[in-house]
Amino acid sequence: MLKSRITGTGSYVPEKIIDNSYLGKKIDTSDEWITERTGIRERRVVKTGQANSDLCFEASKKALLAAGLKPKDIDMIVVATMSGDMPMPSTAAILQKKLGAKNASAFDVNAACSGFIYGLSVADKFIKTGASQKLLLVGAEVNSRFLDWEDRATCVLFGDGAGAVVLEPTKGKRGILSTHLHSDGNLWDFICLPGGGSKNPPSEKTIKKGMHFIKMKGNETFKVAVRTLEKLVVSTLRENNVDPSELAMLIPHQANLRIISATARRLNLPMSRVAVNLDKYGNTSSASIPIALDEVVRDGRIKRGDYVLLEAFGSGLTWGSALIKW
Ligand code: COA
Repeated sequence: MLKSRITGTGSYVPEKIIDNSYLGKKIDTSDEWITERTGIRERRVVKTGQANSDLCFEASKKALLAAGLKPKDIDMIVVATMSGDMPMPSTAAILQKKLGAKNASAFDVNAACSGFIYGLSVADKFIKTGASQKLLLVGAEVNSRFLDWEDRATCVLFGDGAGAVVLEPTKGKRGILSTHLHSDGNLWDFICLPGGGSKNPPSEKTIKKGMHFIKMKGNETFKVAVRTLEKLVVSTLRENNVDPSELAMLIPHQANLRIISATARRLNLPMSRVAVNLDKYGNTSSASIPIALDEVVRDGRIKRGDYVLLEAFGSGLTWGSALIKW
């Protein structure tokens, strides 16, 4: 029975930093409020002219190098994103051109902040069935272009970035052990970007009403996220007969440090075994997990044979997890 294994990781964040104090000078917020309520200290934002596929390109080059592969070796490109270059074509297709990955098929997956886990689950299936041998999966977001920079409830939370992984088949014990996907569309309006699509096509009215910006019922989302993620991590480990004490590293989606800490507490896991980078990057949606994964791989914080648990929660509402034997 084939398994899929991550054979290379890479990440990229734009150079421009916006810290909390800067936002505190522009709108009615403060470094103290943002740090205490979220754990975020600063975030990265793209420069003029920089698009999602540019971030994907930088992260992908590093992941390919780490895997020892050339772009032409890749047979499938999947980009998890909700902030692609344009509604069509897919950002994956634009990335294919930038990389010169001429032997690949290419498509996007959108499950908002759970996008990377959804993409990983799709990728895992293609590899396991033998349909793909060398797959490039990227989680990338340019959230800054979809934020109302005067809305303190949302603009302080999000950032831009990209993370990429290469997946290949393996017959050994290591690799992706299981993935778990969930969704509750009844709560779609908890986090949404209502304008610009076929329901509310772009018009003077949608722009005036700010419908092209991310809207979030933060507090309501927070409560569902904590409850749901606690259950999710416990059930994922149980299904694999892995005790929480055996877990080397939890790599959570980076929305709020209070949510991350609650999940870690539920598993009795010290924060030294939890990957946290939202202090530097904020919530980078689909990119948060692959960026954090790349950081712990490069720092040597996970080793061959370690159990690594990934989990995410986001708009949809969607949530999902993956257990990996590294
Ligand atoms: N600066 C200062 N005050 C702010 C603020 C800001 N940036 N944003 C909100 N506030 C105020 C609110 O207006 C409110 O004021 P009031 O009590 O006078 O009405 C107060 O702070 C509390 O707001 P609330 O929304 O209840 O805060 P919270 O503790 O729930 O924190 C979030 C807000 C968004 C940080 C938090 O709810 C969160 O992280 N939600 C989950 C996000 C998530 O997981 N999303 C899924 C993945 S994207």
